[in-house]
Amino acid sequence: MSSTEKPAPLSGVKGMNDILPAAAPLWERFESAVRGVARAYGYQQIATPIVEHTRLFTRGIGAVTDIVEKEMYSFTDALNGEDLSLRPENTASVVRACIEHNLLYDGPKRLWYQGPMFRHERPQRGRYRQFHQFGVEALGFAGPDADAEIIMMGQRLWDDLGLSGIRLEINSIGQPDERARHREALIAHLTAHEDQLDADARRRLHSNPLRILDTKNPAMQDLVNSAPRLLDFLGPESLAHFEGVQTILRQMGVAFHINPRLVRGLDYYNLTVFEWITDALGAQGTLCGGGRYDPLIAMMGGKAAPACGFGMGVERILELIQEQCPPNAPGLCDVYVVHQGAAARMVAFRAAEGLRTMGLDVILHCNAAGQEASFKSQMKKADASGAAFAVILGDDELAAGEATLKTLRDGVSAGGAGGTQRRVALDALADTIVAALVGDDEDDEDLA
Ligand code: HAM
Repeated sequence: MSSTEKPAPLSGVKGMNDILPAAAPLWERFESAVRGVARAYGYQQIATPIVEHTRLFTRGIGAVTDIVEKEMYSFTDALNGEDLSLRPENTASVVRACIEHNLLYDGPKRLWYQGPMFRHERPQRGRYRQFHQFGVEALGFAGPDADAEIIMMGQRLWDDLGLSGIRLEINSIGQPDERARHREALIAHLTAHEDQLDADARRRLHSNPLRILDTKNPAMQDLVNSAPRLLDFLGPESLAHFEGVQTILRQMGVAFHINPRLVRGLDYYNLTVFEWITDALGAQGTLCGGGRYDPLIAMMGGKAAPACGFGMGVERILELIQEQCPPNAPGLCDVYVVHQGAAARMVAFRAAEGLRTMGLDVILHCNAAGQEASFKSQMKKADASGAAFAVILGDDELAAGEATLKTLRDGVSAGGAGGTQRRVALDALADTIVAALVGDDEDDEDLA
């Protein structure tokens, strides 16, 4: 490339999205709701690294799962030869961290997390290669009350966000020995009708036949509908646990539907599994999936302890919020500070800091070009910023130890005669603006 040639603009990686400022109000609404729900149920935040040893996921999620077989971003660290992967989910990492730091030494823990996950899937609406999850893990609780509690957290989150039309599907996939007996019967049934299996099902017939029940292939629906049901293979203890979850949900008014074919795509589950689903987002309507995973902690080398949890797809939930109850315009700043001349610039810096200390959101004009912008062009920027007030500092104001306070937003008053513009002593500036904005809020409340 010659030195005069303009470099081509670079683009991001397919399926990995930028989160642009216009989406910030949506993210803020979601994040504040999940923090509120987590706090309301006594969950503490945990954060684990995005990169883990690959064996964590092969052992935790299962070597014969779509995620591990086809979707992991795995690589060898060129510097030390370690086999690493970008995390495709966070449950295995949370369990690893709990074992490594002995977090369960003094009893059960309620934990929550949020952050990016990575799966090399075919990108489409609601399915990305980098996506975000909010999730909870309740570690050390054996009873159905923990399962019911995490399900109810989902219901509370939908209510807090004002979302509707989200249904809950639950199932019990029993214990490993119950699944083994069902698996035999299932393989026998599917083998007897092998001519009706598609390529995917044939591949899974002996490795993971349960997942065949999850098929979306219309040609196989009769076959899977007539297959032996896992629920019919559950012993009394598993059935009692499942009944216990249902009883709490019924008594707490949480509506659910039992879907005997719900099996989930990760190997660590036992007993309760559940999904929250919407029909409003097309094919990728599962907003949240989770369940009990009692074997996992021991499988990862820890002292056996029961556990359950869920993960939610944040992008999918944000799309639903945008559809059902979009937030207002992005949060606007309170004050835009306009200034001219070197001396005024320093006063403007100090004034802006003083206003921020009082809790106001302030934009201080910075020049985009090398030279100072005219008052007129600075005022245009102030108008466009959405600020309630402009604070103007020029030679006149400086000489008098004052600033000009100008109203920019309808319904806010700078006070004084006329109400749109007046001089204010610099040391009274913050109090005057705070009083004007509080008065404005109170007026709003009067109107409401
Ligand atoms: P999962 O069902 O694999 O479970 O993912 C949970 C949620 O993440 C899904 O219901 C979906 O909303 C979202 N999700 C998954 N893949 C994508 C994607 N490619 N693009 C956008 N969203 C996606 C787990 O990950 C388990 N760790 C959940 C769990 C926690 N179970 C127990 N504790």
